[in-house]
Amino acid sequence: MGPFDLTGSVIAITGASSGFGHHFGTVLAAGGAKVVLGARRVDKLNALVESIEKAGGSASASALDVRDKRSQIDFFDAAEAAFGPVNVLINNAGVEAGAKTYMMIDEDDWDYVLDTNLKSAWMMSKLYTERVLAHGLGSGNIINISSITDTRTIKGQFPYAVSKGALTRMTQVMALEASKHKIRVNALAPGYILTDVSRILLESEASPEFMKGIPMRRYGEFADLDGPILLLASDASRYMTGSVLTVDGGHVCASL
Ligand SMILES: NC(=O)c1ccc[n+]([C@@H]2O[C@H](COP(=O)([O-])OP(=O)(O)OC[C@H]3O[C@@H](n4cnc5c(N)ncnc54)[C@H](OP(=O)(O)O)[C@@H]3O)[C@@H](O)[C@H]2O)c1
Repeated sequence: MGPFDLTGSVIAITGASSGFGHHFGTVLAAGGAKVVLGARRVDKLNALVESIEKAGGSASASALDVRDKRSQIDFFDAAEAAFGPVNVLINNAGVEAGAKTYMMIDEDDWDYVLDTNLKSAWMMSKLYTERVLAHGLGSGNIINISSITDTRTIKGQFPYAVSKGALTRMTQVMALEASKHKIRVNALAPGYILTDVSRILLESEASPEFMKGIPMRRYGEFADLDGPILLLASDASRYMTGSVLTVDGGHVCASL
């Protein structure tokens, strides 16, 4: 037992079928949490549940399309049926629209990215807060997975960067408003780690030059996020709300 211990905590993770969300599921279950995994690719979620249970952890999986309100409600219902009320919500599901500028995207690109990365985090957080109150939990914890594109500009990641800038701002405003319910709201802002979201840049010809802009001269690895996610998900961060935890090898403070 220590401040990072998650025993007894029910943690819901959106976008847990691959990348960060998949990794968080394993790490948080190993830390003692009962994890509820949501995404559209349920076969991948089921495989993760199996591997977490094999390792002695507790997990359940439920289909979730974060762009669909009915699906969001069903996800929380399934989580409660499996483990009881959700203590921690991680809004991790995210997509990008390809290497496009504001002149190249169309309305469908805008809606796809903004609805998945931003609107869903608000809607999921609202549903979560209603349930924290209805179940009389007395406290709660929301973690939004933002990105260093929330503050740094980069060409051709529009509207992804727009969604992340707003997600960070939403974290701060929500933290202010949720404090009266003893719900903490923080954001994790990772730098670049190879996943389906970042592949288009990290595997491009521009990648070696881009990496030179990172003071630590490497992209991140999933394990680089273990300490930060355990901090935010546990009581170790009990006096943190409205914070944005940047984990990027120094990328945002790189010299011009
Ligand atoms: N990789 C990076 O360098 C980086 C850096 C900073 C922040 N991030 C953020 O980290 C988060 C996770 O991304 P990732 O890099 O791990 O990429 P990823 O491997 O592509 O994971 C994205 C996840 O989001 C889920 N998702 C997408 N649309 C969804 C929807 N409508 N409903 C439910 N789930 C949905 C996907 O699952 P399904 O397709 O199965 O639904 C998948 O599990 C994103 O918010 C991303 O912006 C990534």
